[in-house]
Amino acid sequence: MPNLSIPLCATALLALIFTSVTFLKEDRHLRVKVRDLVSGNLDSYPDSRRNVLLKELSDRRRELLPYFTASEKDAFMGLPGGDVHRRSFSKKLAVARSEENGIHLGASNTNHNKIGCKELGYIKNVAFVGSGYTKAVFQGVLPEGLPVALKSVNEQGTDMKRCLEDFDDMKGCYELVSYKLMKEIVLLQRLDHPNIIKLHGHCQSGEREGSISAALEHGSPLQMIQLLQSPWEDRFRVCLGLVRLLSYLAHSPLGPVALLDFQPRQFVLVNGELKLTDLDDAAVGDPTCQTDSDCGLQFPLRNFSLPCSSDGVCQGLNERRNLYNAYRYFFTYLLPHQAPPTLRPLTEQIMNSTAELNGDVNGTLAAFENILHLYKSGLYLENLPSALVEDYVASRGMRSAGGESYRCWPSYQHQGCVLSVHSIAEAALVCSARSECGGFTINGQRTWTGRLLASFKSGFSDLVPDVNSAVYMRRAAASGFPL
Ligand SMILES: Nc1ncnc2c1ncn2[C@@H]1O[C@H](COP(=O)(O)OP(=O)(O)OP(=O)(O)O)[C@@H](O)[C@H]1O
Ligand SMILES: *[C@@H]1O[C@H](CO)[C@@H](O)[C@H](O)[C@H]1NC(C)=O
Ligand SMILES: *[C@@H]1O[C@H](CO)[C@@H](O)[C@H](O)[C@H]1NC(C)=O
Ligand SMILES: *[C@@H]1O[C@H](CO)[C@@H](O)[C@H](O)[C@H]1NC(C)=O
Repeated sequence: MPNLSIPLCATALLALIFTSVTFLKEDRHLRVKVRDLVSGNLDSYPDSRRNVLLKELSDRRRELLPYFTASEKDAFMGLPGGDVHRRSFSKKLAVARSEENGIHLGASNTNHNKIGCKELGYIKNVAFVGSGYTKAVFQGVLPEGLPVALKSVNEQGTDMKRCLEDFDDMKGCYELVSYKLMKEIVLLQRLDHPNIIKLHGHCQSGEREGSISAALEHGSPLQMIQLLQSPWEDRFRVCLGLVRLLSYLAHSPLGPVALLDFQPRQFVLVNGELKLTDLDDAAVGDPTCQTDSDCGLQFPLRNFSLPCSSDGVCQGLNERRNLYNAYRYFFTYLLPHQAPPTLRPLTEQIMNSTAELNGDVNGTLAAFENILHLYKSGLYLENLPSALVEDYVASRGMRSAGGESYRCWPSYQHQGCVLSVHSIAEAALVCSARSECGGFTINGQRTWTGRLLASFKSGFSDLVPDVNSAVYMRRAAASGFPL
């Protein structure tokens, strides 16, 4: 099958690219910051080492502050100012902890806190899902049957290990890493979009001091390799969801949000819909600047720069950073291949404009929505020869219980040839273009865009009644069929 081997070969190549990308990931971890703060060997200055950890802890808390309401803030304020040096370390840490009690993550006005510590105690079927530098993720089912993903601090993760190497303080390090999860929770409480994972609730307390876990909508990891072998319609859906997300993030209630660690593994799929699940590396607000040189964007293959606005902000930098990352991690792999021929100039235009960052997210989203409209409405099918339908004998209210199938790529079903079509006329066009096609069945199943799923076969047998189905047999094939 020559047309099968090409995509699989390309897939293997891409697998390699993705693996190497993972290793090239920017170092965004605690240690870098810590090393910036103290020069020299930390071990020979135990006091300064503790102070660095305390400073880190207080910086992290400060970073969270803007997300709290005024009353939450009052409880949380009184960061270690004043004469920290005269107090003993443990006392300081105790103070830090009592402040942390103040950041008990409150319920915001929406329903994020329906699930708390009590509910999380009743979770069943708990199983490990995955882990990263910061978090460990388990899946489980709540008593009422809701599947959830549970995130907690990954005690074996790189963030934790590096902190322990630097500070050798289990409690302090756990607290430091847990602020990343806390940041994710507050961001999820404030951001609301169909392409951001839902926060069902969280628990902060438990046996371990400062222990925190979050219960999120459950998804499945985004498998790029699998997506590369999926129909264009599904790949387009992922790209569209991403651009809708970026449009929201560019104008979010918190200001423009940039995803600093932008990779496929920060996303999951929920029923085929892309959702952002890892938010601990989000930056809120465009960076401030003094000159244009402060507003550079650097990528391995391209550099960009934006002007520094008169009020000292790199306006639109977060939005551009996200858009270029969407291009280099998603569009290049998912968008152009197997797009319907009449839509190809439009996808190419998106590729061109995002590769050069010529347009903004709004313009890109408009281009995507236009493609969706043309695709859904069938307008992309110019000059469809409707007369082709005449070549088929329709048996409505019937389906084929047997028959011979053939395979095509990319098919919605592995064993046969199931493709999405706009209409019976398009299905007839697809079938007539292949000599092995003897007809097709439509059974009312639709794709996410509302298009029909048609199952193409080389031959039919055992027609049985089925009100939801219709069989269309090609006349040449139908003539030989024993009715
Ligand atoms: N809502 C979810 N449903 C199912 N699996 C999930 C969910 N959220 C995360 N995961 C899985 O758990 C893994 C780790 O989660 P997450 O990315 O939040 O941790 P992390 O430590 O921040 O990772 P990284 O080092 O990539 O930044 C993800 O790669 C993903 O496969
Ligand atoms: C981007 O800028 C950096 C730093 O100025 C430079 O080292 C690098 O060569 C540039 N890369 C490209 C592709 O222009
Ligand atoms: C995209 O860029 C390529 C190369 O520069 C060019 O040949 C092509 O015409 C462009 N396509 C569109 C639709 O702008
Ligand atoms: C882009 O779209 C957002 C949300 O739809 C809107 O608030 C904003 O004004 C638009 N920006 C531009 C430059 O058109």
